[in-house]
Amino acid sequence: MESFIKVEPTVIALFGATGDLTWRKLIPALYNLYLDGRTPEKFSVLCIGHTDINEKQFHKHLHEGVDKFSRKGKANKKEWDAFAKYLTYYKGEFTENATYEYVDKQIKLLEKKWNTPTNRIFYLAVPPMFFEQIATKIGKTGMAKDKKTSRIVIEKPFGHDLESAKRLNNLLHKMYDECQIYRLDHYLGKETVQNILAFRFANVLFEPIWNRNYIDNVQITVSEQIGIENRGNYYETAGALRDMIQNHILQLLCLIAMEPPVSFNADEVRNRKVDVLNALRKFKYEEINQFAVRGQYGPGWMEGKKVKGYRQEPDVAKDSNKETFVAIKFFLDNWRWQDVPFYLRTGKRMNETITVINIQFRPVPHQSFPQEATGNWRPNRLVMNIQPYMGIRLRFQAKRPGLEMLLHPVDMTFNYGDGNASNTPEAYETLLLDVMQGDSTLFMRADQVEAAWDILMPIINSWEMNPSVNFPNYAAGMQGPEDAEALIARDGHNWIVMPQDKEE
Ligand code: BG6
Repeated sequence: MESFIKVEPTVIALFGATGDLTWRKLIPALYNLYLDGRTPEKFSVLCIGHTDINEKQFHKHLHEGVDKFSRKGKANKKEWDAFAKYLTYYKGEFTENATYEYVDKQIKLLEKKWNTPTNRIFYLAVPPMFFEQIATKIGKTGMAKDKKTSRIVIEKPFGHDLESAKRLNNLLHKMYDECQIYRLDHYLGKETVQNILAFRFANVLFEPIWNRNYIDNVQITVSEQIGIENRGNYYETAGALRDMIQNHILQLLCLIAMEPPVSFNADEVRNRKVDVLNALRKFKYEEINQFAVRGQYGPGWMEGKKVKGYRQEPDVAKDSNKETFVAIKFFLDNWRWQDVPFYLRTGKRMNETITVINIQFRPVPHQSFPQEATGNWRPNRLVMNIQPYMGIRLRFQAKRPGLEMLLHPVDMTFNYGDGNASNTPEAYETLLLDVMQGDSTLFMRADQVEAAWDILMPIINSWEMNPSVNFPNYAAGMQGPEDAEALIARDGHNWIVMPQDKEE
């Protein structure tokens, strides 16, 4: 029988309650936590949005979201009705003091009714332009002054560049202690991403070879078939570097490259991750072309359907210079990783949707087998499939059954699907529960966010100052621009995409 850490009585003030994130992710996640008995009995979600609807319409809208997006499928009416009692709706402007007075009053009323102080969680599921204002107004009411029980959750993007991230951090630190600030990167809540830590630090097997002596290169691919999905306004200010590399992909790199933490204490884990970011070699402006490649999709074909190019998407400039694809080669200047290339790439409208980390080991130092035996020989490789395949695959050489000594590569695999995949919590379930329990291990600390911006600023500045001359440079449905192949081919490697169920 699993024993859970009990969540104390909790009030969540959810700003942006009629937005997409609340609909698709937050409410389905809270509902699943409720079904799993992980929400406390004394629990309330004060939903704040500026859409003019009544509570009944609001509940109906959220119910539809759960039916559509919950991993557990459609909600049972009785269970949904019981859960919906925890959700109240308030139509309020983020700019008006009345909104915050309402939240303050409701929290006090609930605490009086329950006869206990509560966890107070202020969740900003809003566009970034509202972050400063909402955080300041919450701070001014004094609602969040208890450092132990009040927490503020901020979604990405955290800042637009190093300067704005620092400004936002400074502003937050005037009102909140760092331990109260939960900067959310949903990748860190993914089961397969958390499993990287378990795999590396709960096994003795890999640690001795997890370094430059045995690893030849590391590749991280996050490729998506979807385009920008009506998010033209946002994407025109972001691009793939800001949208994916600065947060999700650098976090994956940190988990692969970090030193073993002494404990799983939030600060200890985050210290080890910051060490990785600080060890990333800084790019010189004149070298950027050797280390980073950008791309933008043009019109093309996806699964038999014609799709638009990026510049034809709604709210996108006809001559937009925004990158929808990035490939970067990083080096880490430390003892463990010196001279090992880390190749990262991500793109929209790619040929497949897959997030995968490949650890390519070095060839054996001496090949003892005769050439005839090793025709199919390949160096060892470890493939961590993050999504949609979830699992780990280790490739090694084996003797092909038969009278001759012939070698061929075989795989040992671990599939999450072999257990019960629908039991796998969604990232937001894990992260919301962590916030309620006051565990910030999987959230980004101020110095982490700033270090991640710092390393990317030369590329961001250089690409903004020098518009690309060849955009669009890959057709929708392809693997990205040719330059990305050249980036890795120059080192004698190629991009590996090896989903769990396919042979390479
Ligand atoms: C978001 C990005 O943070 O992550 C999106 O803004 C991207 O552009 C998404 O599509 C990918 O998340 P997931 O969980 O679908 O891999």
